[in-house]
Amino acid sequence: MQHYTKPVKEFVEEHPTGVAAVLVTGVGLFVFRRWLAGGVCRSKARLDGKTVLITGANTGIGKETAVDMAKRGARVILACRDMGRANRAADEVRKRSGNGNVIVKMLDLASLQSVRALAKDVQQTEERLDILINNAGIMMCPQWKTEDGFEMQFGVNHLGHFLLTNLLLDLLKKSAPSRVVSVSSLAHEKGQIHFDDINLEKNYDPLISYQQSKLANVLFTRELAVRLKGTEVTTYALHPGVIHTELGRHFFPSLPLWKRLLFMPLFFFVKTPWQGAQTTIYCAVNESLQNTSGLYYRSVAFSITCVKCNVVRFCSSRPVRGVHKLSKVRIIIYMHHLSHDIIYCHQIVTS
Ligand SMILES: NC(=O)c1ccc[n+]([C@@H]2O[C@H](COP(=O)([O-])OP(=O)(O)OC[C@H]3O[C@@H](n4cnc5c(N)ncnc54)[C@H](OP(=O)(O)O)[C@@H]3O)[C@@H](O)[C@H]2O)c1
Repeated sequence: MQHYTKPVKEFVEEHPTGVAAVLVTGVGLFVFRRWLAGGVCRSKARLDGKTVLITGANTGIGKETAVDMAKRGARVILACRDMGRANRAADEVRKRSGNGNVIVKMLDLASLQSVRALAKDVQQTEERLDILINNAGIMMCPQWKTEDGFEMQFGVNHLGHFLLTNLLLDLLKKSAPSRVVSVSSLAHEKGQIHFDDINLEKNYDPLISYQQSKLANVLFTRELAVRLKGTEVTTYALHPGVIHTELGRHFFPSLPLWKRLLFMPLFFFVKTPWQGAQTTIYCAVNESLQNTSGLYYRSVAFSITCVKCNVVRFCSSRPVRGVHKLSKVRIIIYMHHLSHDIIYCHQIVTS
């Protein structure tokens, strides 16, 4: 050590400005990175004897949320579409949490039949459901359709979760106080509901479709809160931040190489899946939210907080395609009816 002290001292004395600049930049980057990482859920709430169902929990922030719920003592159901990946994730969740009560169930949100099958299974085999976390999502995929012919992002991110939640409401009510947490996105802010072309068949754009589906998550959370008033089932929507997960699997490969290279340094500034799961965990367990419902949360600087979602702005400054003259409240209700009607009509046609 003594060996290095002298040359280091000499180097610092010869280059005081350079050393100071490197130190300030380093500390600045560290603080900025920490700031971007956002708030952490500090609640110590235990979930012993409670059941949590998380969709899309085999990877990303869903898996991290599952580890946290299991550490708090809950029975955790990973509802996933790929049983191989789901079983491997369940092993990891059990190992990391030390809780063996973690099970896997099949759910493909791109199939209404699969959603119904899972809901039936849960109703028949589970005594309670305390927290439903609608986490699974697909972003900016090509113009694909679900098994039932709906545009993929709208079908998976909104319609599948809409049906699942509605089918599980009785169990949630029976287990009250219980919560429905929907992982939306900041992307909802630029969203519009295309009532005149809900599947975006006339002019498909992967980003517009993602934004629409995430806005639908927020509107659903709002309307569900109204419908569930007095039941002690509360609802929450959230933006988890920008996180390094597999969500970009359809988006990044579509970019030219030079753009992908440009994006690479930015990965230093995005959240880890554990950091990204904090807002979901906060909405799922934080005691202070027990009496609030229908709101939208995100991490602001170092804390997680409820922020005004875009429902107000979206209604005043962004015309909703197809129904321009409806008020804010009526648009939310209209969206709920539309989702219900789409699924109901589909059931009649296919039965
Ligand atoms: N990452 C971000 O920066 C970010 C930002 C804002 C919002 N979000 C939201 O956060 C949520 C979680 O995303 P993530 O970042 O953790 O992404 P991820 O790593 O890609 O995880 C998405 C999960 O959803 C599942 N999934 C996709 N399609 C499904 C289907 N048809 N049926 C059932 N499960 C399906 C995936 O299963 P497979 O592995 O089998 O495909 C995976 O388990 C999403 O709702 C996303 O929109 C993420």
